[in-house]
Amino acid sequence: MSERTISGKQKADDGKIEQTLRPQRLEEYIGQERVKKNLTIFLQAARSRSESLDHVLFYGPPGLGKTTLAHILANEMAVNIKITSGPAIERAGDLAAILTNLRQGDILFIDEVHRLSRVVEEVLYPAMEDFALDIIIGKGPAARNIRLNLPHFTIVGATTRLALMTSPLRDRFGVIYRLDFYNQMEMEAIVRRAAHILGVKIDAEGASEIAKRARGTPRIANRLLKRVRDFAQVQSDGTIDQPLAGEALRLLEIDHLGLDDIDRRVLRTIIEKFDGGPVGLETIAAAISEESDTIMDVYEPFLLQLGFIIRTPRGRVATKQAYAHLDIPYTEDQPADTQPVLF
Ligand code: ADE
Repeated sequence: MSERTISGKQKADDGKIEQTLRPQRLEEYIGQERVKKNLTIFLQAARSRSESLDHVLFYGPPGLGKTTLAHILANEMAVNIKITSGPAIERAGDLAAILTNLRQGDILFIDEVHRLSRVVEEVLYPAMEDFALDIIIGKGPAARNIRLNLPHFTIVGATTRLALMTSPLRDRFGVIYRLDFYNQMEMEAIVRRAAHILGVKIDAEGASEIAKRARGTPRIANRLLKRVRDFAQVQSDGTIDQPLAGEALRLLEIDHLGLDDIDRRVLRTIIEKFDGGPVGLETIAAAISEESDTIMDVYEPFLLQLGFIIRTPRGRVATKQAYAHLDIPYTEDQPADTQPVLF
């Protein structure tokens, strides 16, 4: 797969910049007002009882701030945070090693928590519920079960796919928050804040232009800002204004809605190869040589949000708006089976 400037998925060079730009405190965090309000109360209550936080689950498309919020929770509670991910914990023993090294109140952040194996999940259940680790020592008839007590820690889980989580695991999180795409005003504020931290000069229209094309996703906004900054340094005096941002993004083939070549290929495939749909996700993925998981996590949420595609029982359907965006004439005899369903 080609590297994609507007994918919400984390890329190798995002790490350093994300760390410098990442807000440390809840009050610095822009947007997700509902989640922030709830977290403020949640934090205050835990602090006033001098207890550790209940386990928290964040879900939503990539790049919206799940990891950032986990770090903020750790900062606000003045505890340590350990970072891992579902696929990184391969065996039950790996999890046991992590858990036994945690201290009272510590946060264990598990990214892609829906990808934990069943065996590891089994160990996690009593750990989350009773702060206990059930381990078997020895083999055969001599094997003994022992229960190890763990300090009261907090699991912060993150997933792009709530539906793929097993319900016993989901049920063990005391609070579950969905992160949504950011609105234009919030995105502008995020771009201005990032530019300020990076020492980049940007005017209101320049910030607005980048914000508009970042698909409501801060990670993408930060990435675009970096690209436009390069452009500003080479092509002008380093200040980002609207014409400059517009030109830089045009060269990156990102259109005024933030769609890139791959989004447009998804839409074109549905419209031109499959008559507007309905067509299955796997078929679309095969037609454009992308992984269906990537399409579902990264591309589809924003196309759905724009109302360019809908999900039906028989597959994805391109809407009239998608035709209009691509300048393709829309005829009225489109498929009848376009009742949206929730997955
Ligand atoms: N950087 C990335 N996401 C952010 C957010 N939600 N608020 C402030 N800065 C950010």
